Amino acid sequence: MSFDDTTARRAAFPVDPAFVERWSSRALSGEAISDAELNTCFEAARWAPSGFNAQPVRFVYAHRETPEFDALLSLLNAKNQSWARRSAALVFVLSRTDFVFNGQTVEVGSHAFDAGAAWAAFAHQAHLLGLSARAIGGFDRAAAPAALGLTANFAVHVAVAVGRRGPLHDLPETFHAQEAPSARRPFETFVHEGRFRGEP
Ligand SMILES: Cc1cc2nc3c(=O)[nH]c(=O)nc-3n(C[C@H](O)[C@H](O)[C@H](O)COP(=O)(O)O)c2cc1C
Repeated sequence: MSFDDTTARRAAFPVDPAFVERWSSRALSGEAISDAELNTCFEAARWAPSGFNAQPVRFVYAHRETPEFDALLSLLNAKNQSWARRSAALVFVLSRTDFVFNGQTVEVGSHAFDAGAAWAAFAHQAHLLGLSARAIGGFDRAAAPAALGLTANFAVHVAVAVGRRGPLHDLPETFHAQEAPSARRPFETFVHEGRFRGEP
């Protein structure tokens, strides 16, 4: 999505710069990141809010240059593999769809929403560490549950390519034009006081 508004990458109201400065790169260096860095991102996600405090989000990850990384990478579609192979780690974001509450197993209606909140915390923490984290919805959703070792009460939401930013010339040319922070819709088009006014 793009907007003509040249102020689109400027905050309409004061926010912590991290919210505006975070963006998801495809140009990654292939350098390793440490367990400490990755665990700091997971830790930020662990503190995300969730319905019933059920904390349904789970992560499966692998560092680059491991057999597990190759297995996770192979789940991505070819286009995403072509750039995500230079990520330092691949992370799959999952959620458990049920929850034991007062001895009863109940469905967690908010599991996907909660996973989104956790992913956002993860991505912002990655940014604060100087890393890029890009979500990837283009993967083999039929194959992923078995490949990740999941039972039927888990949902797979996205893969995330995490790493340090790298030079543009290592990124397949087809992505070069998009390798920049993206715009946002104008503030007044998404916040409604009192009642939804409809879309313009
Ligand atoms: C659910 C979801 C699925 C996405 N799928 C892909 C994908 O398959 N490939 C890709 O390169 N980027 C993917 N993205 C990244 C978005 O295109 C990106 O976050 C968006 O353009 C906003 O850019 P920003 O993260 O730099 O702010 C996905 C993001 C989300 C949240």
